[in-house]
Amino acid sequence: MRKLQQQDARLYSSFRLPAVLHQVLLCETEADLRQIDAAKAPLILGEGSNSIFLTDIQQPVLRYVAKSVTETQEADGILLHVEAGKNWHELVSYTVNRGWWGLENLALIPGSVGAAPVQNIGAYGVELTDSCVYVDFFHWDSQQVQRLSNLECLFGYRDSIFKRALEGRGVIVAVGLRLHADGAPKLNYKGLDHLSVNCSVSDVYQAVLQVRRSKLPDPQVLANCGSFFKNPLLTVEQFSELKQLHPQLPAYPQAGGQIKTAAAWLIEQAGFKGQRSGDIGCYELQPLVLVNYGHGTAADLEQWMDLIIATVQQRFGICLEPEVRMLHER
Ligand code: EPU
Repeated sequence: MRKLQQQDARLYSSFRLPAVLHQVLLCETEADLRQIDAAKAPLILGEGSNSIFLTDIQQPVLRYVAKSVTETQEADGILLHVEAGKNWHELVSYTVNRGWWGLENLALIPGSVGAAPVQNIGAYGVELTDSCVYVDFFHWDSQQVQRLSNLECLFGYRDSIFKRALEGRGVIVAVGLRLHADGAPKLNYKGLDHLSVNCSVSDVYQAVLQVRRSKLPDPQVLANCGSFFKNPLLTVEQFSELKQLHPQLPAYPQAGGQIKTAAAWLIEQAGFKGQRSGDIGCYELQPLVLVNYGHGTAADLEQWMDLIIATVQQRFGICLEPEVRMLHER
């Protein structure tokens, strides 16, 4: 295990607010995890592409950095056992190069494999749950790894058991994914519907890279954590009432009967697209992405977020919920 002291939090979150992490622990094995004092409530961090540090953090920040990938050929596909520290996009690129189907729509999502199940990452009509077979979770209590099946992970829209009952209870150490040598492209997202149904896995991958690069700011260039809020889920009644008032309101009907609408649309209508206050603002091409132009502070961010929430609430009666993880000293 490596122990780092007094770290600049801007190196650990792609939103890059100024703060200090008093201790960062880089763990690589289960033996490392057994040495951790769980009573200090370590805060688990992946690559920091969905986590924002609002204050200095005294409690240890723990990263599980092992990143091996093990392949097993099975009757119904290829099973990949991937340790949590592997970079997600590198994994996707590797699988696409091998011609395997399953992760291509999830290309270029920033972050680590271990973070992917926490919020059930998703894009362009595909979510992690579609290929996730299991998640291996090291429990502080038992000091053992438990293998949770896909069903046990309670995946939902940007949701899982790891954000709920298992929050603070341990660390994801590996993820099992099932991919397929033969497959059909998933092209229901409107930015991908120009592709032919006979296209290759690499064609889908390239198209996803193109759409993402055309809409989303590169966190290396402009600090951001992707979508800042979740897309709101409405009941059919709520939706039809609002649709009368706002005929353009986008609708994405969900399996459970609810209707998802677009937070980006609500924020744009509320007048925030491309707007900023100081160094915090809404990205000009996708207002759901909040950006830090360089010297934004936690206070600026909270003020901007509260203003967006209040304006959208007043205008549409919808309460936007943050999708990013905002961290502060306990
Ligand atoms: N829209 C606007 N104005 C804009 C942009 C979008 O009104 O400037 C409206 C349009 O109606 C558009 C709709 O919002 O059709 C949806 O926009 P988009 O396709 O860009 O996706 P999103 O719903 O805003 C979600 C995910 C993204 C994911 C994309 C693509 C969430 C919170 N976000 O965004 O995930 O990449 O779909 O599948 O579900 C992330 O989680 O960090 C992330 C980037």
